[in-house]
Amino acid sequence: MTTADQSPGSVTVRVPAKVNLDLRVGPVRPDGYHELSTVFMAVGLHDEVTVTTSDTWRVTVGGPCSAGVPTDDTNLALLAARTLAEEVGVHDPVSLHLHKDIPVAGGMAGGSADAAAALVACDHLWSAGMSRDELADLAGQLGSDVPFALSGGIAMGSGRGEQLAPVLARGSYHWVFALSETGLSTPEVYAECDRLRAGRRVPAPTPSPEVMTALRSGDPQALGRALHNDLQPAALSLQPGLAEVLEAGVEYGALGGLVSGSGPTVAFLTASPEAALDLCVSLTASGVAGDVRRAKAPVHGAQVVPGPTRV
Ligand code: C5P
Repeated sequence: MTTADQSPGSVTVRVPAKVNLDLRVGPVRPDGYHELSTVFMAVGLHDEVTVTTSDTWRVTVGGPCSAGVPTDDTNLALLAARTLAEEVGVHDPVSLHLHKDIPVAGGMAGGSADAAAALVACDHLWSAGMSRDELADLAGQLGSDVPFALSGGIAMGSGRGEQLAPVLARGSYHWVFALSETGLSTPEVYAECDRLRAGRRVPAPTPSPEVMTALRSGDPQALGRALHNDLQPAALSLQPGLAEVLEAGVEYGALGGLVSGSGPTVAFLTASPEAALDLCVSLTASGVAGDVRRAKAPVHGAQVVPGPTRV
């Protein structure tokens, strides 16, 4: 990693991970997606995406969480850049460098975050002048979690997660994330959720009043009690060891814990920055979690980094 001045032909965007405070999974839709009701919170674990004018379209990856990120045409950030180029009539390729600090295949929307960052970075590089609404439309076509990575903060998601509405919220929240060594595939977790619920009537998903009340009053204790994820049984079925991590975190003083999105990252809400640090130490010392991270939330969505940047 080096530091360099951001050249006129290069733009860096910083973009956060997310955790779902409440994830209700409804029936499968005709298009194969599940109808969702969710509450997203953007958390202070960030990737940085740098786009640079180039002769060819390409992606390079660095940073602590770079293992397993595809650098071929399936990379979602590359697809995002190409989609925007087509939309605004740009024919000059860019190279993308992803500095990854968000776990890969971890249920924290790292790939979606990179796609959102690529949209913002290319819009800036090409002076395309897209509005946030236009970018959000493109983002929704790229993936269900991409629009939230653009907006950040706290928002309700409906549809397949891409339709966002504001949430009245106050306060800061201190999270600990226990990372898993092996990722989980989102489609496989949804398929496991369907398998576990087979034969049962699945109601239309509705938001949890408890989560909304806790956010409105800025009450981390109440939020900790209200955390809920319909995908958790599926993630636990695919990675049974996560149950031990969840139990340990709550035993060591977390206000609440849940599998983040489709997992396997386990998210714990704590009462203060000190409590978060204590929980990290306890989880690591007990040996149930290898890699743990702390993050404050909420944070804003994808934003251009002014001045010096990582290359
Ligand atoms: O939208 P995205 O590409 O991130 O979704 C990845 C996969 O997760 C989908 O292909 C689908 O299998 C599953 N999914 C779903 N219902 C949603 C969101 C995602 O079934 N609402």
